[in-house]
Amino acid sequence: MPAYQSPALNVMVAAARKAGRPLVRDFGELENLQISMKGPADFVTSADKRTEKILIEELSKARPGYGFLGEEGGAVEGKDKTHRFIIDPIDGTTNFMHGIPHFAISIGLEREGHLVAGVIYNPVTDDVFTAEKGHGAYLNNKRLRVAGRKELSSAVIATGLPFLGKEGHARAGAEMAQVMNVTAGIRRFGAASLDLAWVAAGRFDAFWERGLQAWDIAAGIVLVREAGGMATDIDGGANMLADGTVLVANEYLHPQMLKLLKNTGG
Ligand code: IPD
Repeated sequence: MPAYQSPALNVMVAAARKAGRPLVRDFGELENLQISMKGPADFVTSADKRTEKILIEELSKARPGYGFLGEEGGAVEGKDKTHRFIIDPIDGTTNFMHGIPHFAISIGLEREGHLVAGVIYNPVTDDVFTAEKGHGAYLNNKRLRVAGRKELSSAVIATGLPFLGKEGHARAGAEMAQVMNVTAGIRRFGAASLDLAWVAAGRFDAFWERGLQAWDIAAGIVLVREAGGMATDIDGGANMLADGTVLVANEYLHPQMLKLLKNTGG
């Protein structure tokens, strides 16, 4: 646990842990389901719904009146108009469905329209990433700091790619070509919340993606900022949650990435 953890963050971590336990059991079950008639899709949908239900129950018990924005339930206004939880019950659903242990529960907290706290929990590895505005970012009890690399040529960059049915395939290809030309490598691990947490942890030097939802990135943005990194939308503005694009990196690489992505004409 970090040196300081507010009561609100305690509540968020406890909710994520509680919802994570049955999710790990489901993940173990998936192997048998691959061969079942319906396939795992329905199973995953119900795991997603159940996880969100547990999160909402736990969070509302401790913070009645707060609003919600969730992947399954959409926006729910609370009596308290100043606070809102932004939750993704399973970020990395495709990984989850394929038995890849890289997915997470993501909970962000907004106060008066500003992101102030985030929890990203991978229940399989039991990694808890937490951050609170003004109090730093942590992986379990270890303080996080973004990587210090200044040159793109030595940087490992994470991204996300649009899948079947999503827009922007050509643009994603053009951006990848541009970035892979000048960097040490690109990674696509399949869970935006963890991509952000891993930038905060200094594992990735930068991460960019388009076509995201607020619940994929709300918690991770707090993590990156509290680890000393910069988080903007792909045009360098502050509209990440509204326009669903994100670019995060340290202060040296962020402007370089911004320029590079702009040059693709996107
Ligand atoms: C997805 C993951 C993935 C990203 C997709 C998201 P979901 O979230 O974060 O990495 O590339 O754009 O939709 O659907 O698994 O919660």
